[in-house]
Amino acid sequence: MKVIIAGATGLLGAEIVRQSLQIPEITQVVALAHETVHLDESIDSSKVRSVVIDNYGEYPDDVTAEFAGADACIWTVTLTPLEPGVDFAEVKRVCHDYTKLGFEAMCEAGPARPFRFIYLSAEGTPQEPTKDPVILPDFFLMRRNTELMVQKFPRGKQGVEVCIARPGVIANSTTWSNTLVAKLFRIINRFGRTLPTIQRSELAAAVLNQAMDGLEKRTLLNADLVRLGRRELKFRSMPRLS
Ligand SMILES: NC(=O)c1ccc[n+]([C@@H]2O[C@H](COP(=O)([O-])OP(=O)(O)OC[C@H]3O[C@@H](n4cnc5c(N)ncnc54)[C@H](OP(=O)(O)O)[C@@H]3O)[C@@H](O)[C@H]2O)c1
Repeated sequence: MKVIIAGATGLLGAEIVRQSLQIPEITQVVALAHETVHLDESIDSSKVRSVVIDNYGEYPDDVTAEFAGADACIWTVTLTPLEPGVDFAEVKRVCHDYTKLGFEAMCEAGPARPFRFIYLSAEGTPQEPTKDPVILPDFFLMRRNTELMVQKFPRGKQGVEVCIARPGVIANSTTWSNTLVAKLFRIINRFGRTLPTIQRSELAAAVLNQAMDGLEKRTLLNADLVRLGRRELKFRSMPRLS
């Protein structure tokens, strides 16, 4: 099976690429990022194609050629308004516009059927269109609109399936994201709310499981992702009959 991992340099994307190397059912990995993805040289990574893109809004022919025949995409590209020096227009372009343009480029490239598109959103994004978020309202309203857009992606496209994954905070983050998470917690705690957490390995395992075995639900909440991730990691740790 061929899987595209968009945002392969990110905290989650890099872990998904790493885990996909250990899964024999995954035979081709397209690691899409705006920089070359560097892999541990001690591991056989011959099934990974690092595909560099200047801009997730434009897909040259050599990039779309890499998408052809893909069975699934896990879309992790994101930018938060907490990043210093970033304006909201840029955040919207990365989170919303690029998701649409990336999905369209993959569909035009001629994916396999079914083609599963798993979009990473976040816990805290309001599910009800009438409910306004109290924390970073512009950002979470934009992400809600992106979820609504993604839910409509399969319309008129036979064999296209989508899933929205809504993890809580990734607990074991790298340095910069620890700072980001700490900031988020501070803001959220001001409103007397807490966010659930998930281990990065569990989240990566959960979305890879759904890409391979099929989508359990159209929206996966943090508890679903923890359950699926733990089950997948346990399954992979079991000895296999050859
Ligand atoms: N981290 C968490 O605790 C958490 C919690 C809940 C949900 N999530 C969701 O999980 C997904 C992945 O999160 P993550 O923590 O792995 O994010 P991340 O580390 O920030 O990675 C996001 C990816 O997007 C790329 N990106 C960011 N800005 C870009 C730009 N202007 N142009 C092009 N590419 C850009 C990054 O590329 P570079 O690496 O080159 O910058 C990276 O590949 C996101 O949808 C996020 O909302 C994360």
